[in-house]
Amino acid sequence: MRVNGVAYRTVWMDGGAVKLIDQRLLPFRFKVVSLRTHQETAEAIRAMTVRGAGAIGVAAGYAMAQAARHAPARAFDRAMAEAAELLRGTRPTARNLFYSVERVLAGLPVGAPVAARRARAAAIAQAIADEDAARGRRIGALGQQLFRRGRSRVMTHCNAGWLAFADWGSALAPVYEAHHRGKRVSVWVMETRPRGQGARLTAWELGQEGVPYTVLADTAAGHVMRQGLVDFVIVGADRIAANGDVANKIGTYALAVLARAHRIPFYVAAPTTTIDLACPTGAEIPIEERGPDEVLRVSGPADDGRLAHVRVAADGAAARNWAFDVTPAAYLTGLLTERGLVAPGPRTIRALMRAPGRARPGAVRRALVHA
Ligand code: MRU
Repeated sequence: MRVNGVAYRTVWMDGGAVKLIDQRLLPFRFKVVSLRTHQETAEAIRAMTVRGAGAIGVAAGYAMAQAARHAPARAFDRAMAEAAELLRGTRPTARNLFYSVERVLAGLPVGAPVAARRARAAAIAQAIADEDAARGRRIGALGQQLFRRGRSRVMTHCNAGWLAFADWGSALAPVYEAHHRGKRVSVWVMETRPRGQGARLTAWELGQEGVPYTVLADTAAGHVMRQGLVDFVIVGADRIAANGDVANKIGTYALAVLARAHRIPFYVAAPTTTIDLACPTGAEIPIEERGPDEVLRVSGPADDGRLAHVRVAADGAAARNWAFDVTPAAYLTGLLTERGLVAPGPRTIRALMRAPGRARPGAVRRALVHA
């Protein structure tokens, strides 16, 4: 997607360096950081310099390629196992990170010369990034069918746009595609406290693409829905269990309950790499809990332009900070993936994961009818 008219991916590899857009500074400053080792890339994931399920999956794949590049020939397997362990410990909830680490480890040719194994790790990491972008594009092409010819007012939470993936995004990909096709789309962007991914990242992304949007305080969702101002809700996912339960940014569950109360369709868009068949239900999805400071402070540029973290709670206040919540599958109208739209449940999820091919045009409408 474009930043000031220039095409970018969120994460890419340049020689041995992983380059990524520093999302901690957006929308106030646009800066690309360059990471020379897998340890630096792992730290960027942990510190949320890069964030969003797809983007951290891509960064983790590249980090594994960096680890292979620097692993000593005599202790190659041990070094790769240690790198995998380091990456798995950075952030627990998003499935894509684990998918990438496992895919690189599984793809290393056993007994091959180390040079061949390094080359293979780099090729797999690049394939993960390219496939992530292609899946987002496909989700966009399929999902744009949810938008009417007339005006559609959709609501989204957190950031499930191109900053959260290599490119395109999941929940925002259909928005971009519908907008490119000339459909009249406007987006209610939930602020998404405590980190403000909606106000800071989604608003910035939509602005770069010229899509009309309005930021709402998280507490305004019910009021806006009740006035009939939302045609449907579309959000991303960090991990989807085998029964269709969805872990996504904290606040998603509350939106789903509100949407159900107001009979507003509620869609989750995600690539199949976010589905974890090893998690039977949402109860088994590990939910990251972060430090209380993100709740007790807000950050933004001070008058001198430097990023300041100012307190917004009483001195000494206690806080809990769960980064994600789980929305039961029953609250979803549909799960949109690069393979089509399904009503989520154990049977449809299994069928989705078996389906090898691409969904045909028109598949979204047909799937909706069958849902
Ligand atoms: O904690 P973050 O910023 O990494 O959050 C993850 C997300 O981007 C959201 O939960 C999003 O809605 C999922 S789509 C990648």
